[in-house]
Amino acid sequence: MCGIVGYVGFRSVADILLDGLEQLEYRGYDSSGIAVKCDNDIKVYKAVGKLKNLREELKSHVKEFEKSTMGIGHIRWATHGAPTVLNAHPHTCTHGNLVLVHNGIIENYKELRAELEKEGCVFKSQTDTEVAAHFIAKKYDETHDLTEAVRLASKEIEGAYALCVMHNDYKDTIVATKRNAPLLVGIGEGEYLIASDVPAIIKYTKKAMYLSENQIVTVTPDSMKLIDKDGNEVQPKIELLPWEPVALSKMGYKHFMLKEIHEQPDVIRNILVGKLHTAAEPVILDEVKLTKDTLKKLTRIQIIACGTSLHAAMVGKYLLETFCGIAVDVEASSEYIYRRTVTDEHTLVIGVSQSGETADTLTAIKQAKARGSHILIITNRPDSSMAREADSLLSVNAGIEVSVAATKSYIAQLMAFYLLALYMAEIKGSTDKSIIQSIKNELMILPQKIEQVLANTDEIQKCARKYSNTKDFIYIARGINLPTALEGALKLKEISYINATGYAAGELKHGPIAMLDDTMPVLSILMKGIVYDKLLSNSEEAKARNARMIALTNSNDPKLEDLFECIIRVPEVQEFLSPIIAVIPLQLIAYYIAEFLGKDVDQPRNLAKSVTVE
Ligand code: F6R
Repeated sequence: MCGIVGYVGFRSVADILLDGLEQLEYRGYDSSGIAVKCDNDIKVYKAVGKLKNLREELKSHVKEFEKSTMGIGHIRWATHGAPTVLNAHPHTCTHGNLVLVHNGIIENYKELRAELEKEGCVFKSQTDTEVAAHFIAKKYDETHDLTEAVRLASKEIEGAYALCVMHNDYKDTIVATKRNAPLLVGIGEGEYLIASDVPAIIKYTKKAMYLSENQIVTVTPDSMKLIDKDGNEVQPKIELLPWEPVALSKMGYKHFMLKEIHEQPDVIRNILVGKLHTAAEPVILDEVKLTKDTLKKLTRIQIIACGTSLHAAMVGKYLLETFCGIAVDVEASSEYIYRRTVTDEHTLVIGVSQSGETADTLTAIKQAKARGSHILIITNRPDSSMAREADSLLSVNAGIEVSVAATKSYIAQLMAFYLLALYMAEIKGSTDKSIIQSIKNELMILPQKIEQVLANTDEIQKCARKYSNTKDFIYIARGINLPTALEGALKLKEISYINATGYAAGELKHGPIAMLDDTMPVLSILMKGIVYDKLLSNSEEAKARNARMIALTNSNDPKLEDLFECIIRVPEVQEFLSPIIAVIPLQLIAYYIAEFLGKDVDQPRNLAKSVTVE
């Protein structure tokens, strides 16, 4: 997490840095800071909290930096040291001559710090980052060359980092490098921008270069030099970013989350374009680069992801196993990377990630790739680090998701799995054609059904208000909707901070039922299908313990009226497709509860949209 921006050119730098940081606010928002080169000095300004606090802080200093045309900026999500002004970036060396911003984690910072302190460096913060400032300054004192200092220091720094460095001896030079953290350079006329992500630079240029691992770039207003870790010059690979500057607007909605929930019907329509024409025609997925023959012979798939993407992966498992008859394992990326996994060239490995930058998933993907597996990436960011690792890239085109809580990207990931499962089933001939056609028919009319849910949220809002004062919340489901229960609970806890948990309903009586009493809401995801009756029995068991029962259902079964104190209805769809429609009211319940409670819906505490540290 954390976002970094750098600029050298001819424009007033503070505005560019602040604009850029605003675009990167999704990466963290607990403190921020900028460093700008003024006449003979580098000035550093920092503030705790949201970016608006830094803007406020800068107002009384405008005269000091208004002419400056070079600087670096940072927006932080704390890993080492609390969010305080001292821990906020930029960090400086003992004498303040070298200034840097960092995204990532320096793993050997304790050893380096002890060494540097012995040598007389004075540390001001508790961060791992400050070590880099002192260490690069030390190398600079030895070499009197900033690029060389960065290169030598990065050989000894362990961990993940994207660094942007300035030195007082240089009036117009920034040096940057990266390892396992994203960084790109925007190339303008007489100016260069450096940033963690495209939105921070796209307003100024579409011409850019992504740094590869361990490369070091040195920019001045009219030059850019790229070297590798051994100091050899490298030819930059310049590309045109397929992006338009977008004004991030809430379009009249109170929060981005609500806007993004309402965008979901169009997200489904978009992903179907060019892939599913009619129910009678096969699904077209040119993105999948495995030959038909290899696909037919596949016996094993592993899907790796985190958080909401992990829940989409769980639905994916259900679909791929059911329609394609292939064994699928789903695993949290953070668990996958520190054990011996049975992954080889015969395994298809699918990485799922909205951002395409999640550190754990990226590491897992790289490990699987090194073992020879074909890597299929499902992401909302075709320009991301994960996309660059992909053998097959399935871009879900959900559009920028601003709210930290993932909603439309989840729906888009689900859609990617439906298309993939149908595509593979058609190639393998592993599912009856009539079943495949009926699913395709329903997929095409799903957007209208979701629109019906979105058009009438009275019952959902009533239910949200009724339970907004609860401390705990349980979601139960079975089968293909177990991930829906987990996702509903995740949405609620992350934006309202209510302790919400999703359970496989059959597991309730093996322990969790002990928690039930007349204060506990239990939301049962009762979609018609093979587990409907079983789930109804599990709901009876919960009711018998006086739990406050809520149904999310597509059934008009009169029995429900007695069992549930609140019933939320969604249009009927076949069971296979129910995860898509069932999650919508759960996103809305979480949203309305958080909103009633006055929480910061789009930027909940302690979270960041892109988790680029392990
Ligand atoms: C929840 C949420 C997170 C992400 C997780 C993975 O609303 O947004 O749980 O799903 O951090 O992120 P990506 O999908 O970018 O890899």
